[in-house]
Amino acid sequence: MIFQYSITPVLHYSMILRVSHKHMKKKLWGGRFSGSTDNLVEKFTASIPFDYRLYKQDIRGSIAHATMLAKCGIISKTDSKKIVAGLKAIEKEIDAGDFEFSIELEDIHMNIEKRLMDKVGPVGGKLHTSRSRNDQVALDIRLYLKDEIQHISNLLADTIRAFLALARENIDVLMPGYTHLQRAQPVRFAHHMLAYVEMFKRDEERLYDLLKRVDVMPLGSAALAGSAYPIDRKYCAQLLGFKAISKNSMDAVSDRDFAIEFCSVASMIMMHFSRFSEEIVLWSSQEFRFIKIADSFCTGSSIMPQKKNPDVAELVRGKTGRVYGNLVSLLTLMKSLPLAYNRDMQEDKEPLFDTVDTIKDVLSINIAMINNIKPEKENLEKALRLGYTTATEMADYLAGKGMPFREAHEVAGKAVSYCEKKGIGLEELSLEKLRDLSALFNKDVYKVFGVKQAADRKTSFGGTAKREIKKRLVELERTYGK
Ligand code: ARG
Repeated sequence: MIFQYSITPVLHYSMILRVSHKHMKKKLWGGRFSGSTDNLVEKFTASIPFDYRLYKQDIRGSIAHATMLAKCGIISKTDSKKIVAGLKAIEKEIDAGDFEFSIELEDIHMNIEKRLMDKVGPVGGKLHTSRSRNDQVALDIRLYLKDEIQHISNLLADTIRAFLALARENIDVLMPGYTHLQRAQPVRFAHHMLAYVEMFKRDEERLYDLLKRVDVMPLGSAALAGSAYPIDRKYCAQLLGFKAISKNSMDAVSDRDFAIEFCSVASMIMMHFSRFSEEIVLWSSQEFRFIKIADSFCTGSSIMPQKKNPDVAELVRGKTGRVYGNLVSLLTLMKSLPLAYNRDMQEDKEPLFDTVDTIKDVLSINIAMINNIKPEKENLEKALRLGYTTATEMADYLAGKGMPFREAHEVAGKAVSYCEKKGIGLEELSLEKLRDLSALFNKDVYKVFGVKQAADRKTSFGGTAKREIKKRLVELERTYGK
């Protein structure tokens, strides 16, 4: 399959954006200040090196705000039109890389507002009527996260599709299922893959549920107390496509629960991928040889010529730590903050952006890798034969003939111990030897040792029988397509 997903380039802002350090005499908030800001303070407090990424959301929000101000008669229609046209032109400048971001202007909000005033004159200063950067930044992050949740949901659905295809192609491959990393019972490879589908489906649901709490518009809360202007918050929400508006202005500017929740869902997704990665690493090792990963998804060693390393899976496993770290950063950041906005909250962006970038990369690379995995049928079946994985079937056989299961378990255990000593499989035991263990054994016992039969007897709802797997597969394909 052609690798069709893009990976976020690891670029630092300074490589793609020109950030100027020209000293700017007058701050937009400079009215009450007589001295100028120390250069070190400017650098320390600026968020533009990372929040420039919010420029599209910031402009969308400002356009809606200006439109609402005019509709409510707070600014004139002519002024609003000038502001909107100016903002659209600024968006084009930034898109084209023609915008000079400045550290002195602190953040994306001030950079855009200052540019607006340069372009349209003092009327640009009317945009900030009835607004604070506190509700503005809360709005921008929510708009950003709403979009990204949509992208991530799409990638999750593609991940599920990749697992479904792998399951369908290999529906007849059997393998040992494990508990305690010891061979336990025969299962179908498809069953194992569909277990991951269930995990990622839950993640999809979690994202969907979280969206309800992201989809709330905070604009109109201003700095913390709300606005004295006759604004129409519902109209603004409508313009921006929000389902709800925040109900308490103090909560609205100081709430980052939705970002924490997002990082928690992302951590869960990473935990699932980390478990999958661990299996990929194990299964592709010489010790297991359960799967083959295409060469294009492995790397070699600079010293050992024989090596083919599962680096993609290892890195995914490794990146789990950084996403968990981001969650803990945000939880710790918000802990003990008094209401309402505090500058600490500016620190929410980097962990959030990094989580979004990492999760999108991890999803994209996994979709491609899953398409490049092939189970090694013969090795999987060999592992089944060597692992006494049908010992439970033997116990079930005796239980079926009336022996209490606990006793039957004991007898089958003795059979395994005997076979282990002799270095043979259960199916190689003579009927005579079996009869020594229990008089209930008959010739028909040899039928229960087949691994395929053993798997297909598990017909309980959600079990590993082919019939059950197929039912679930068809159901999932109805949702996700084939
Ligand atoms: N850059 C700030 C942030 O990311 C924007 C809000 C600043 N508000 C303020 N009153 N200083 O949180």
